[in-house]
Amino acid sequence: MKVRCVEKFEQRSFSDCLIIAFFEEKLSFKEKKNFSEKWNVPLKEKDFLGKVGETCFFYSEEEKNKRILFLGLGKEEDITHDSIRKSFSKALIFCKDKGLKKISLIFPDKCMLKDLFKTVLESLFLSNYWFHRLKKDSLKEEKKSLIQSIEIIGIKEDKKLIDKIEKITDAVNMARDLVNNNADDTSPKRLEEVSLELEKISKKIKVTVFDKEKIAEEKMDLLLAVNRGSSFAPSFIIIDYTSNQDKDRTVFIGKGITYDTGGLSLKPSNAMETMKCDMAGAASVISTLYLTALLDLNVNVTGIIPATENSIGPKSYKPGDVYNSYSKKSVEVENTDAEGRLVLADAIAYAVDKIKPSRIIDIATLTGAVSIALGEEIAAVFSNDEKMWEILKKASENTGEKVWRLPLYKEYMEKLKSKIADIKNVGGRTGGVITAALFLEAFVKNTCWMHIDIGNVAYLKKRKGIMPDMGTGFGVRLFLEFLENLK
Ligand code: BES
Ligand code: ZN
Ligand code: ZN
Repeated sequence: MKVRCVEKFEQRSFSDCLIIAFFEEKLSFKEKKNFSEKWNVPLKEKDFLGKVGETCFFYSEEEKNKRILFLGLGKEEDITHDSIRKSFSKALIFCKDKGLKKISLIFPDKCMLKDLFKTVLESLFLSNYWFHRLKKDSLKEEKKSLIQSIEIIGIKEDKKLIDKIEKITDAVNMARDLVNNNADDTSPKRLEEVSLELEKISKKIKVTVFDKEKIAEEKMDLLLAVNRGSSFAPSFIIIDYTSNQDKDRTVFIGKGITYDTGGLSLKPSNAMETMKCDMAGAASVISTLYLTALLDLNVNVTGIIPATENSIGPKSYKPGDVYNSYSKKSVEVENTDAEGRLVLADAIAYAVDKIKPSRIIDIATLTGAVSIALGEEIAAVFSNDEKMWEILKKASENTGEKVWRLPLYKEYMEKLKSKIADIKNVGGRTGGVITAALFLEAFVKNTCWMHIDIGNVAYLKKRKGIMPDMGTGFGVRLFLEFLENLK
């Protein structure tokens, strides 16, 4: 989407729709009437109040902007980044769904304050997403299209800011696309290829890929166990971004289950339908590394993706059997559907042992239980380090990707006790989000660590503000903010 800024109203160009944003109450009838008379539209007093996300659409005789959309921003004193996200995404989606391509936008001065304006722009860009790659015939009949250009009236152009937001959007959309594509296409091999592509973007990126043989040599037996039912080979991907000589390094680990059938503990088919999203953590990590390189951040970061399908077949790993792990802990697999924590355990133990980073953050569609606990908008976070949590919390406040910290309640480790192995992979029906996190914690040793369960926010059935339905790209902006706030 191209952005152009013009300082004066008269300088505006022709567009398919002019969006005029108002604050509630600040919109006197007189002003409203001025606008409506200008475009020769009779607008009755109560038609539009200016509440957050309220819209009023009409056609005008005016030459430059034949369509007008009034957009409500709520009360001026109540304005927040969240209310901005809500209203501007509503306006953009309205125009996109109408098949409009060129829009112009005018809003009150307050929205031009630097960080509010950033949120305005980000909301517009992030809402302009539509996954249509797999549509064929029906595409001709669809009225929808993506907005191609936007003109912002009344503001000086800030090229640097626009460029940064374009890059952020590019990375978030990359994560969304990776999730939304067919699971058969986004195989472990494909995740490898996408990661290797990153080397072309920056000399600071180096990608190492472990194939099945090397994974066996490294004794990542949990990753191998999960892979046994799949016809696709597993892959262990390491993306290093090195920008300075500091010892400080952040490792992001993303769950890369390219499809989760549940294995022999098979999922019911309605629960399986969305399971191509089970590599959303991996997608966020790859996109974070992509964005880190695009923005040339002065940080050292490693992204690790343990990638495999959790499928079913004669060689599938079996509930009740005990498997070894990279860390040498033996694991009783009580349920093959709790596979994410197994591949993450090997990846975490590998990172602790070989990379010895300053901190590890894993991100995973780890449990279904997280949506019971927190709904569809708030991810669960666990951490053994206060400082890290504070930085993430701040990042979350800035990006609007909501998180809530849950306790690593040691007593619940009891639930993971196995009669025949060092630990078992499930802890019973209750407290499932916590026991999943406690399982991972058993592999982090003394490293500062954080776990983000995005099982509820990575893939939506219904879009919500700037988050589209299906893959949301949750985590990419959060991690960028995290990295930017590290020092
Ligand atoms: N990938 C799922 C978790 C999931 C479910 C993510 C729904 C997004 C939406 C994970 O591998 C899984 O199946 N977890 C089980 C754990 C259980 C067997 C202890 C779950 O949550 O049911
Ligand atoms: Zn599963
Ligand atoms: Zn899974």
